[in-house]
Amino acid sequence: MCPKWYIVTLSNPYMPLPGGYMTSPRMAPTVVGMGLLELIPESTILAFQAANAASSGQVKGHANYVYNPYTQKTEIGRFGQKANTSSLLVQVATAFQQDMGITSYVQPFKSVHGQSQWGAIGDTSGFDIADSILNAVTFYVRTLAVPARRNVTDAAVQRGELLFTQMQCASCHIPTMYTGVDITFPSMSNQRIHPYTDLLVHDLGAGLADNRPDYLAGGSEWRTTPLWGIGLLEKTNGTPFYLHDGRARTLEEAILWHGGEAQNSRDQFTKLSKSERGAVISFLQSL
Ligand code: HEC
Repeated sequence: MCPKWYIVTLSNPYMPLPGGYMTSPRMAPTVVGMGLLELIPESTILAFQAANAASSGQVKGHANYVYNPYTQKTEIGRFGQKANTSSLLVQVATAFQQDMGITSYVQPFKSVHGQSQWGAIGDTSGFDIADSILNAVTFYVRTLAVPARRNVTDAAVQRGELLFTQMQCASCHIPTMYTGVDITFPSMSNQRIHPYTDLLVHDLGAGLADNRPDYLAGGSEWRTTPLWGIGLLEKTNGTPFYLHDGRARTLEEAILWHGGEAQNSRDQFTKLSKSERGAVISFLQSL
């Protein structure tokens, strides 16, 4: 939850970018409940996609399918702001490699600028960290708990929750689903969870576009951000920064940036009375 910007770039950020290279400023995302998100069955995510496709509405999310360099398979994407990573092990290993230049058994090659992140160029003589360190850090991230909700019986919070559903925010920020089974994590298996995401990518319009496609996610598509824990960002981060690049400083601003498939929901929010808008914000702050 570091309130810093970092730039994802395929080139050396200190050199003028030659034509064709794309940049996209990103916030570091909240990392609670990651193991639970990893355990949402693929069939659940695909059922959300099928429901979108079958509905006559504006919301048409779809799954991203991405390459897993460790299993060497194409898998459904779950993590990252364009759902471009399928597993926490790869997410953590790639963060070590891409963000810190540290190689491991999952990402064995040094990241060389100008090369694809799966490129086979670089120093392959031994990994920078032991397998046990990568596994322990992944275990840590996997098991970070979701904070308990607050003020759930508050009348404004309950009114806000109802409005959230009525404005169809919940068609993307899906409140409730169940995890599957991982025999190594019985405590996370078969859990009823409230992540407020569908793990699908949605077109949120030109205003939020970075025009940098990632596998099947287009330049204006983003994965629905899980909203669990969002009410504590202000407390943990001081000034909170919302949306993929941190452009929104308040929850209202974050909602008002929604366009594309979320345009209807956004427009309904602007038509609420002041006290109703306040109730929606109180609900979000209770998550
Ligand atoms: C079509 C799907 C969709 C709908 C409908 C939708 N959202 Fe979102 N929401 C998203 C996506 C995708 C993002 C991430 C956008 C980004 O980071 O650029 C997001 C981000 C957010 C964020 C910022 C989260 C963060 O931590 O940065 C908030 C708050 C939010 N939505 C609330 C709402 C509310 C309230 C509504 C209803 C008025 C709503 N959303 C409707 C898909 C949707």
